[in-house]
Amino acid sequence: MQKASPNKLAILNKLVTAAPGMVPSGELVESLNVSRQAIWKAIESLREETIGIESLPNRGYRFIAPPTFDLSPTWLEHRLKGTSLGHPILFLETVDSTQEIAKEAARQGMPAGLVVLAEEQRAGRGRMGRTWLSPTGGNLYASLLLRPRISPMQIQLVNLAAGLAVQMALESLFRVRCSLKWPNDLLWKGRKLCGILSETASETDRVHFAVTGIGLNVNMSVRDLITAGAENPCSLIEIRNETSNRGEILVEILRRISELIGLLEAGPEGVQRLVALYRQRCSTLGKEVRVLTDSGTDYGIAENITQDGALEVNVQGSLRVYTAADVLHVRASQD
Ligand code: BTN
Repeated sequence: MQKASPNKLAILNKLVTAAPGMVPSGELVESLNVSRQAIWKAIESLREETIGIESLPNRGYRFIAPPTFDLSPTWLEHRLKGTSLGHPILFLETVDSTQEIAKEAARQGMPAGLVVLAEEQRAGRGRMGRTWLSPTGGNLYASLLLRPRISPMQIQLVNLAAGLAVQMALESLFRVRCSLKWPNDLLWKGRKLCGILSETASETDRVHFAVTGIGLNVNMSVRDLITAGAENPCSLIEIRNETSNRGEILVEILRRISELIGLLEAGPEGVQRLVALYRQRCSTLGKEVRVLTDSGTDYGIAENITQDGALEVNVQGSLRVYTAADVLHVRASQD
């Protein structure tokens, strides 16, 4: 397990700020109020995260290069300075599901901002009780702990914000505009690139927490995903024809989610702006859809997203509102 500890983060912040200059170890000892031994241990641990730090005997330390490992937790936390999410970041090589780790932390009272990452999930979970295949191979598996100050009625908006954030992040980083299917699937030519699962604990008038899990196929080939058992997958490597840095994608996603949750918490005007942004970018609107609910299957035309994030569908002339459902675009090839 790799974790960004306060000492490691403070040291990294200082070294990066001073680069290309060096920071005397005495200065680190003094400002952090810890022993030389503790500084040395923290530096070793930063190096284990593959961050390039040079030691200058009897003088100090110098930052030389960002990590070669793209999910270095301390580096990511450093990159997220000033953002409400990503504090702390926990990276685990293998785990059943990052959702479980984040939810347990939430139950133990951990404040909002925690992000749990894994290289592999043995029992990754999807929406509607499905499995999210999560082999090693360069994909992004992340769970974020949020404690949004909203009413439980608005919880679907957190889901929409997460999908929107991923779509915006891929567009701004790589000019890749994928289709955002309500509530928060990201598709490329009808194939699934990213799935999002939000699990919440709330009372009648208060949301205790939401754990939002993001599974994004980044560097694993579509062939390998299919071999692992994924159904109709797509991967960023196929779209971009090159590998992508998962950490940089995550940083952009977290910044955007944090901004969108800020809108959501700002009151009715913020909610209106969030929903308007979502409507502009949601490819479900205007499409012929098949809606699968616990009580059956409906066919109709998706007409609107409500201020609570529900989907309104015109089913044979009457408007039906779905707060949670599985939606399929009937002509998926258009996505
Ligand atoms: C979907 O069914 O589309 C949602 C998939 C969500 C997958 C992510 S991967 C990180 C987090 N951990 C899980 O077990 N699931 C979510």
